[in-house]
Amino acid sequence: MCGIFGIVTKEITDLGPILIGAGERLSYRGYDTVGAATLPQEGEIDLRKDAGRVQEVAEKYNFAEMTGNRGILQLRWATFGAPSKTNSQPHLDSDGDLVGAHNGNVVNNIELMEEFRAEGMTVRSENDGESCVHAVERYVDQGHEMVEAIRLATRDLEGDYSFVIGKVGEDRLYAIKMGSGLVAGVTDDLVCIGSDLPSILPITRKIVRLYDGEIISFWADGYEITSVEDGSRIEREPQLVEVSMEIAQKGGYPHFMLKEIHEQSQVAGELLKVLDNSPDLEPFLEKLRDARDIYVIACGTSYHAGLLGAVFFNKFAGRSAIPVLAPQFAAQYGSAVGPDDVGIFITQSGETKDVINTVEAARARGMGVLGLVNVVGSTLTLISDLHLPLACGYEISVPATKTYLNQVLALLYLALRWGGKDTGPLAGIPEMIDRTIEASEEQLDPIVEQVKDWDDLYSLGYGLTYPVALEGALKFKEITYAHCEGMLSTEFKHGPLSAVTDGYPVLFTAGPEDIPLIVSGINEVTCRGGQAIAIGLEDSRLEANAQQTLTLPRPDLPEELVPAATALLSAVPLQLLSYQVSLARGYDPDFPRNLSKTLTVD
Ligand code: BG6
Repeated sequence: MCGIFGIVTKEITDLGPILIGAGERLSYRGYDTVGAATLPQEGEIDLRKDAGRVQEVAEKYNFAEMTGNRGILQLRWATFGAPSKTNSQPHLDSDGDLVGAHNGNVVNNIELMEEFRAEGMTVRSENDGESCVHAVERYVDQGHEMVEAIRLATRDLEGDYSFVIGKVGEDRLYAIKMGSGLVAGVTDDLVCIGSDLPSILPITRKIVRLYDGEIISFWADGYEITSVEDGSRIEREPQLVEVSMEIAQKGGYPHFMLKEIHEQSQVAGELLKVLDNSPDLEPFLEKLRDARDIYVIACGTSYHAGLLGAVFFNKFAGRSAIPVLAPQFAAQYGSAVGPDDVGIFITQSGETKDVINTVEAARARGMGVLGLVNVVGSTLTLISDLHLPLACGYEISVPATKTYLNQVLALLYLALRWGGKDTGPLAGIPEMIDRTIEASEEQLDPIVEQVKDWDDLYSLGYGLTYPVALEGALKFKEITYAHCEGMLSTEFKHGPLSAVTDGYPVLFTAGPEDIPLIVSGINEVTCRGGQAIAIGLEDSRLEANAQQTLTLPRPDLPEELVPAATALLSAVPLQLLSYQVSLARGYDPDFPRNLSKTLTVD
C-alpha cells in the first residue's frame, strides 16, 4: 500500500510545504521512500526523492523550497523493488516530459519493463510505478492526448492500482482509479487528489468521489471525469464531508484492527496476483522440493500461520515440515540441521530479533533461508536467500490480522503448487473472506455476551483448526487481557478439563472433517456445566451439542479444498470476537497494554 497526492493551484505557490503536509498525512500508509515533483508550465520537472521517512527526505532535498502550480507526492510501501532512491517515486518517462506515481501493484511489471526497454524507452528502476508512466508514454509517443493515452495504458497494466501523472507544458494533472484508493478535493483556488480522505481533508471538505475505471483530469479551477471503458464524460458534483480526521485515517472504522480485518479480502486478492506473477515463486518451490528437512520458523501470530502451513504441506504436498518457535530452534534442532535443510522464516515485520537471531543460527549450519515477509526491505528480506512478499501494506494495529491471513494463504498457495495442484480456485477466497466477516458479525453478539466477563477461557481445535484455535487464543490474550489458552481439543481432557465449572466458556473451532471428535470434546465440557461455543460450517451435530454456534458460510471451492479454506477463514470470527470483547471490556484493541508491533529486542 502506498500513498499518492497531486495538486493544481491557480497561482504559482510554495508547493513544498503542501506536499510535505500531504506526505505526513499519508505516512501511516507506508514510509519506505518518499518523493515530490513540481511541473512548470515550461522547462524541467523538479523531481526530488529518496528512501527514508517524509521529514528526513524532505529536509535532505529541501522540499520546502519547491514552488509551482502543479505538484505530485508519493509515499512508498515497498512490494516490487527494495526501498532505494532509484525505486522511489515519482518516476519520469524516458525524456523527462512526463512524471507520475502510483499506489497499488502492477503485477505484470517485469514483463512490461522488458517490453519498454525493447521499444527503446529508458527504464531506470524495478518499481512498478515506473511501468505506469511508461505505459502512458507509449501512447503519448503514438500521438494520443493524455486522457486517451491513459485509457489505452490500462490495457497493458495488470493489477490493482491508481496513479497520478502530468506532462510538461500543460496546465493540468491526471489521475486514474483502477482498484486502489483515490479521491479528489476542490476549493475555489485548487483541485487535488489523494489516495484517501486524510490526505486531502485538511485542504478541503469538498470531496469528489472517484470509482474504479475512472480518469480525472484536473486543473486550478475545474476537473473532468472520463470513463476508462468507453471514453465518455461522467458528471459528478463535489460533496461536503464532515468525517473527522481520525476516523478518516481509519477508513471510517473505529479502530485500525477492524479496518485491517475488513482489508483482508482486498490484500488476499493482491497477494494471489503477486504470487501468480512472482519470478521468485518457482525458485522458492525448488528449494523446498530439494530440501531434506524443512523447518517453519516464526514467533507469535506468524508461528500459528506456520503451524497451519505445515498441515497444508502434509495434506497437499505429502511433505513434512517442522514448525518451531524461533528461539527454540537452536536448542531443539541446531545440531541436527545442515546444508540440505531449509528454513521458512515467517515474519510480518521482517525485524523480530528472535527470528533474525535464528536466521544467523541456521546460516551457521549452512541451511537454506527462505522468507515470507510483509515489510519489503526489512532485515529478513535482505538476509534471506529468497523471500515472497505478503502484499498486505502497512499493518498498524498491534494484533496481527491481515498479515496472518495472507501468511496462511501464501502457505496454502505454496502447498498446492508444491503438490502440483491448481491454485486457480483460490481466486474465490477474497469474496469468501467478506462473506465470513458478514456471517460472523451477524452472529457474534450472544457469544460476546457469553464470554466478555470471563477472565479465563479455552480455545480448542483439531487437525487443520488446531493452529486456528491457538491464534484465536492469542488474539484474546492480546486485546481482552483475559487468559485464553489455545489447545488441541483431544488434550483438554488430559488435565485442563479441571478448569470447567458452571458456565465456563470453551471455544471449539471445528473443521468439517473432525466433527465427531469435536462433539466428544463439547460433551466433555457441557456434561460438567461448561458453555461450549462451536465455530464451523453448518452441521446439525454442532447445533445439537453446543450451547452456541457461529456458522460459517461453506467455501465455494472444490471439495478437496473446503477443509483447508475453512481453517483459513475460521480465524476471522475469532479475530472479530476478540475485538468485540476487547471493546466490551473497555480496552483499545489497536494498542494493547505492554505489547509492541515489532520486538527488535531479545
Ligand atoms: C509480536 C507482535 O511482537 O511479534 C505479534 O505483537 C507478532 O503480532 C509477533 O505476531 C511476531 O512478529 P513478526 O513481525 O515477526 O511476524
